[in-house]
Amino acid sequence: MQMDTGKEGFSALNFSIFILLLFSLLPLQCCSQVHDITPSRPLAEGQTIVSPGNLFELGFFSPNNSPANKYVGIWYQNILPRKVVWVANREKPLAVADTVASLRISRNGTLELVDGKQNSVWSNNVSVPSNSSAAALFLDDGNFVVKVNAGAADHLWESFDYPSDTLLPSMLLGFDSKSGERNFLSAWKSESDPSTRIFLAGLTPEVPSQLVVWINGSTPNWRSGPWDKSKFIGVPEMDDQYQSGFYLDENAQLGTKYFSFSLFEKTVAAYMDISSEGVLKLIYSKHGENWNTFWEAPKSPCDNYGACGPFGACKSSESPICKCLKGFVPKSLEEWSKGNRTGGCVRKTKLFCESNTNQSVALRGNDDGFWKMSNVKLPDFHEYISSLSAENCRRQCLDNCSCLAYTYVNNIGCLVWSKDIIDVEEFSSAGQDLFIRLRTESGK
Ligand SMILES: *[C@@H]1O[C@H](CO)[C@@H](O)[C@H](O)[C@H]1NC(C)=O
Ligand SMILES: *[C@@H]1O[C@H](CO)[C@@H](O)[C@H](O)[C@H]1NC(C)=O
Ligand SMILES: *[C@@H]1O[C@H](CO)[C@@H](O)[C@H](O)[C@H]1NC(C)=O
Ligand SMILES: *[C@@H]1O[C@H](CO)[C@@H](O)[C@H](O)[C@H]1NC(C)=O
Ligand SMILES: *[C@@H]1O[C@H](CO)[C@@H](O)[C@H](O)[C@H]1NC(C)=O
Ligand SMILES: *[C@@H]1O[C@H](CO)[C@@H](O)[C@H](O)[C@H]1NC(C)=O
Ligand SMILES: *[C@@H]1O[C@H](CO)[C@@H](O)[C@H](O)[C@H]1NC(C)=O
Repeated sequence: MQMDTGKEGFSALNFSIFILLLFSLLPLQCCSQVHDITPSRPLAEGQTIVSPGNLFELGFFSPNNSPANKYVGIWYQNILPRKVVWVANREKPLAVADTVASLRISRNGTLELVDGKQNSVWSNNVSVPSNSSAAALFLDDGNFVVKVNAGAADHLWESFDYPSDTLLPSMLLGFDSKSGERNFLSAWKSESDPSTRIFLAGLTPEVPSQLVVWINGSTPNWRSGPWDKSKFIGVPEMDDQYQSGFYLDENAQLGTKYFSFSLFEKTVAAYMDISSEGVLKLIYSKHGENWNTFWEAPKSPCDNYGACGPFGACKSSESPICKCLKGFVPKSLEEWSKGNRTGGCVRKTKLFCESNTNQSVALRGNDDGFWKMSNVKLPDFHEYISSLSAENCRRQCLDNCSCLAYTYVNNIGCLVWSKDIIDVEEFSSAGQDLFIRLRTESGK
C-alpha cells in the first residue's frame, strides 16, 4: 500500500509539472474556460463555461448594436450568427464599463450576479442549507443548473425552468396547475434589448391545449389550433415533415401540461424562439452551419389572429382573403368594402331554434342543419364534450341552441363552439372539417 501511495504521489507530481508546462504553452484563451461556479470560484468577466459536448457557452455578452449594456447569458458556442438562448439579468443590464462584475455562488448558496461594487444585479433567489455548498454547472443539453454539490443528482434550480425567448430541445413549456407554476417564452424588446413583455408564447390551459402568442400579455396574436395528440391542427406543415419530434404531455391527474420537442439527428441543432416582432420560429443548423428557418408563424396575413373578424374565414390563396361564413353577411358593408374586416360578419337568417321559443319545438331542431367546411384551422374557444361518435356529437350540438358549430376529430373527440366563431383559416390541405349551424332552406 505504501509503495503504491508513493508511486501515486510521484506521478501526481509529474502530472502537475506537465500541466504547468502545457498551460504555459497554450494561448491565454484556454485558461479562461472554467467548468463550474463554486463559492470559491466565481465566473469573472472574460471567462466562460462550456457545456459538455461544446455546444453551449455561458458568459458575459453585449447584444449587437448595444455596446453600452452587458448581460450574462447562454449561447450556442460555434454556430453563427450567435444565438443567445437564455439571459439572466434581462431587465437589469450591467454597464459595459463595469469590468469586474462576476457571477458567483453567494454565502447562502444563491447564484448571484454582482456588479463591480458587489451589489446584487440578479439572483436566482434559491438558497441552500447553511452547512452544504452549492455549485453551478452545465448539463449536456444546455440546462445550467445549481446543485447542492457538484456530484449531486438533484438540482435546486435550473435555467430550463425560466426560459427567456428560446425553447431548446427537451425544455418544457407549459404549466403545473397544482403548484400554479407556468412558464412562457417572452420575446426580447428589440434585437439589442433582452428586456421582456410585449410578446409572450405559451400553452393554454383548455382541453385540448393550443400554443398561443399574446401581445401585452392578453391579446392573442397567433394560435396553433388545438393539439390532436400528434400535431397542432392549425399548423399544416406539421402534417408531413415534422411529425413526431413534438410532444404535448397532458397529465390530467397531476394537472400538468408541457410542450416540448426533441431531435433525432445528432448533427442537427435546433431551437424554437419568439422574435421581438412576435414571430414564433423553428430554426435549425446542420453540421454546425449557419442557422436556417424551418417554420415560422404568423407568416401570411391569415395567420394573424381574427384577421377576418367574428364569423369570417380567411384563405390566403384567394383575393380578397376574407369572406363571411356561409349564411353570414358583413356586419358593416361599408367597413368591409373598405377592406376593414375586423368587425366580421352576422347571421343573415335567425336560427330555427332561436326563432321558436317553444322549447319542445326548438329542441327538436329539425329545421337547423350544418354546413361543412373542410381543411380549416378550427376556431378559437372550443369546448370539449364527451361524446361517443361523430353522429352523437352532431346530435348533442343540434339539441342545444347555444351550439354554433361542432367537429369530431379522430384523436380528440367532440369539440363544440358556443361563442363567436373567430380565427377560422382555410388551408389548401391539412386542417379539419368544421360543421357550422345554419337554418336549413326549408326552415326559412
Ligand atoms: C442571500 O444572500 C444575499 C447576499 O449575499 C442576500 O441579498 C439574499 O437576500 C439572500 N437570499 C436568501 C434567499 O437568503
Ligand atoms: C429575486 O428576488 C428579487 C427581490 O425579491 C426580485 O426582484 C427578483 O426578480 C428575483 N429574481 C428572480 C430570478 O426571480
Ligand atoms: C447540516 O446541519 C444540520 C443541523 O444544523 C444537520 O442536521 C445536518 O445533518 C447537516 N447536514 C450535513 C450534510 O452535514
Ligand atoms: C400594447 O401595449 C402598448 C403599450 O401599453 C400599446 O402601445 C399597444 O397599443 C398595445 N398593443 C396591443 C395590441 O394591445
Ligand atoms: C374597422 O371597423 C370597426 C367596426 O367594424 C371599427 O370599430 C374600426 O374603427 C375600423 N377600423 C378602421 C381602421 O377603420
Ligand atoms: C309547444 O309545442 C308543442 C308541440 O308542438 C305543443 O304541444 C305545445 O302546446 C307548445 N307550447 C306552447 C307554449 O306553445
Ligand atoms: C348548451 O351549451 C352551452 C354552451 O356549451 C352549455 O353551457 C349548456 O350547458 C348546454 N345546455 C345543455 C342543456 O346541454
